[in-house]
Amino acid sequence: MSNIRNVGEMVEPNHDEYNRQRFVSILRKKVLMDFAGDMKTIYQKKVEPNFEKKHGRKPKDGREVRKAMLHEPVFEGWSSLRYNAQLMTWWSVQPAIERDLSDLIQAAKDARAANPAGGSLELNPDVDVPREITELDVHLMPGCFHTEYTDDDVAQGAVYHYGTTVFSGGLPHRRITKGGVASSIANYLKLAHPEFKPKRILDMGCTAGANTTPYKEVYPEAEVHGIDVGAPLLRFGHARAEAEGAALHFRQANATDTGYPDNHFDFITSSFFFHEVSVPDTKKIFKECLRILKPGGLMLHMELPPSALTDPYYNFYLDWDAFYNNEPHYEKFRGLDFPEALAECGFEKDKQLMVRIPNFASTPPDEFKAVATGGDTMRRDHGNGAVWFTFGSWK
Ligand SMILES: C[S@@+](CC[C@H](N)C(=O)[O-])C[C@H]1O[C@@H](n2cnc3c(N)ncnc32)[C@H](O)[C@@H]1O
Repeated sequence: MSNIRNVGEMVEPNHDEYNRQRFVSILRKKVLMDFAGDMKTIYQKKVEPNFEKKHGRKPKDGREVRKAMLHEPVFEGWSSLRYNAQLMTWWSVQPAIERDLSDLIQAAKDARAANPAGGSLELNPDVDVPREITELDVHLMPGCFHTEYTDDDVAQGAVYHYGTTVFSGGLPHRRITKGGVASSIANYLKLAHPEFKPKRILDMGCTAGANTTPYKEVYPEAEVHGIDVGAPLLRFGHARAEAEGAALHFRQANATDTGYPDNHFDFITSSFFFHEVSVPDTKKIFKECLRILKPGGLMLHMELPPSALTDPYYNFYLDWDAFYNNEPHYEKFRGLDFPEALAECGFEKDKQLMVRIPNFASTPPDEFKAVATGGDTMRRDHGNGAVWFTFGSWK
């Protein structure tokens, strides 16, 4: 550990801010657990039977469920609470970040100057930032991923980092963004494919690096890279990683055209990334992955499951974000035929894979190992039920 101040732990809310964050965390949990359960019950007891009476069949997809639910008071209430809880998540962390911003910026500069862990930060002000980011506040996060309000700004990295802690209902005043997805994928790969020892790893759409760090922990010998289009996220991510002793290489680049040489990486991954990317760009990125992946290398992305694997009600529920959370590509991405889309971009069908990986931190080790080594890759009932859907291909 160095004596560089950790931007990921510096921001302390005052009494009122703390309680506001607690309130938002609890409200989100309530909306996503209890109220969502009530809404489903009303759908099953009233909306679906009415639909069946009228059409002589059940709704065939998420759109039909949506149409039937749209003017139900329970949906209107739930949706408006969820929307407001989402906005309040970011608002609840912004005042403390604004108060500490010059300190955060200085700490990030100090980390960059000292660079104690030996990672790197390469920014490119000419990067092509996609239109859905410049035109929309994705996730309703004010300023989105890329906005810079001042020189060397880290504000958006901080808002994402501290905001996702509130969002996930954890201790609101502490950083708990420990990269649950990446530690699940990395530990799964280690058990399922012990012979696979990636030397160079790339995390696409890495944001502030929470889901990049675990790859360095599980594969300490590997060179671990993260790319994103948002400079404030990368400054923040680099500073946090350096303070935590993780040598990560952050670069501002568009995943459609990374600029890396051919056959450069052994392992390419991402988390919660593609649902925010348009379908044409998704295909460009698959092709770019094929180009920069070494023969014998693996591409494995975590995402929301495709709509073909989930039922119409769940599709309606998941695709809420496409309509109300400024994530316009969400529904179209989930509607893709993943094996066909990958094949169209050059990945051979017999080398492709889809795996549901249990959440590493909350699954008993024996059970996690049994799933990783058992070969039944699409089970969804292990652990406490928290599983990450992943898809990809060997090259
Ligand atoms: C929801 S966030 C990903 C979250 C992150 N991987 C995690 O696990 O915390 C999506 C990220 O993708 C980035 N992004 C979107 N389109 C991109 C593109 N074409 N190239 C690189 N990054 C992109 C955004 O700036 C944003 O940081």
